[in-house]
Amino acid sequence: MNAMRELEAFFAGRTFDDFLFRPQHSPVSHRRHVDLSMTAVRGLDVALPIVGANMDTVVGEEMAKTLALEGALGFLHRSGTIAEQAARVRYVKTRHSYVIEHPVVLDRTALMSQARALMQRHHAGGILIEETRGSGLLAGILSHRDMPLHRNAESQPVADFMTPRARLATRPPSVNIDEAERVMFEHRVEKLPLIDEQNRIRGLITMRDLKLYKQKPYSSKDGRGRLRVGGAIGAVGDYMERAEAMLAEEVDCLLLDVAHADADSVEQAIKAFRAKFRAVPLAVGNVATAEGARWLASLGVDAVKVGVGPGRGCRTRLETGAGVPQLQAVREAWLGTEGQVPIIADGGVQNDKDIFLAIACGASTVMLGSMLAGTDEAPGMIVEDPATRQKVKLYRGMTSPEAVADASGDAEEVAEALRTPAEGQSMRVPYVGSVVGTLSRIRGHVQSAVSYAGERTLKAAHQKIAREPERFLIPLSEASRRESFVR
Ligand code: XMP
Repeated sequence: MNAMRELEAFFAGRTFDDFLFRPQHSPVSHRRHVDLSMTAVRGLDVALPIVGANMDTVVGEEMAKTLALEGALGFLHRSGTIAEQAARVRYVKTRHSYVIEHPVVLDRTALMSQARALMQRHHAGGILIEETRGSGLLAGILSHRDMPLHRNAESQPVADFMTPRARLATRPPSVNIDEAERVMFEHRVEKLPLIDEQNRIRGLITMRDLKLYKQKPYSSKDGRGRLRVGGAIGAVGDYMERAEAMLAEEVDCLLLDVAHADADSVEQAIKAFRAKFRAVPLAVGNVATAEGARWLASLGVDAVKVGVGPGRGCRTRLETGAGVPQLQAVREAWLGTEGQVPIIADGGVQNDKDIFLAIACGASTVMLGSMLAGTDEAPGMIVEDPATRQKVKLYRGMTSPEAVADASGDAEEVAEALRTPAEGQSMRVPYVGSVVGTLSRIRGHVQSAVSYAGERTLKAAHQKIAREPERFLIPLSEASRRESFVR
């Protein structure tokens, strides 16, 4: 790497509310045409530059699925057992790809009660029926339409209710999306089993998945059309087993996430990871300095996650005095890595404009915690605050005593962790409905910002402003900050 460019003086001690950017002549006719695609982790592009924080009140399987559907990416938290985290990866990887490669199957002697339970457990609208258990030979389909509303038939075999093989439209596994759509439309069916020459089940296409796939071309999908998902691991303990279990479920990338990643233990963990999982995309964080980011880049990581203490659930700065104002940290990371490694700006985003500013100053994507925590898709219940009647959800730092107590591990491990003074806290955030609404608001605002920045794509705005921030950014006085943000 070359000698490091110095931090521009006007970034020192600065964060989001310290800047506006100069509006530029715009070539954009309508903001919805603005392209927001960026690289989240080397080799993994996203249409919406948002990643969900790996926190147990932010990204579980529902959030990860919806983020990917909307063109973003979720990192599953590592609270809970390895098996639970791997099951969450499996859930995301088996939703909404237009081909279900391993459909749920029952044999023809199975009971209707079993079929009903299985459909519920897998959120499946239908089940393929095989001739004999384990044979994989298609005998028919039992779909919702075949299920009587009454429960008098629960102990009868599914074979009495299924639509038999002779009446089913099927196709070989090589069928393409247009052909599958045509066949399903012609036969007016919702499900198309894929079978080989021996009548063996090789997959299933559902109309619902097909429509979703076509309606959202911007979804984050892998080469086989499955939704993308990331998973978090630590730097000590079971991190290699965690990685292995998630990779077995074909997780798309891993995030080695610790509070202070500029540390010897992280170097050892990265080396052990690389020795075993050579080509797997690996993001690592958190750091908040040019030196820390440069050092991670030299270890060959595929993204650097940046932020020490800006998050809403964080108490690190309050309790230790350590940290770097977030926009300065992002800028330092970009300078330290010479713009060669994707930077994930993590924490402190309170307004949509902060997302654009982070990216303009050097980030590729922005990680959100509290901004996503009040949505339906975040884990946890909606409760009504009895005093204000406002609906809220819980949001908590991952080192808050509550999150530590709920994490997996034996009682002694948890007790030991609780003896370490907390650097995270819990709070309630307003309930705001589906995250789809939050993301479409962010999309619109960032598209507008790109237009104000005089570009057609976020990537172009990022490159232009990050190269010469002095030309475009305006440091604010107290009065101009009031004029801008106080309403
Ligand atoms: P926002 O501001 O989006 O921040 O809510 C999310 C980020 O906060 C970090 N985080 C923590 N930081 N103690 C900390 O110092 C904690 O207990 C804690 N939990 C989460 C994390 O980087 C997350 O992405």
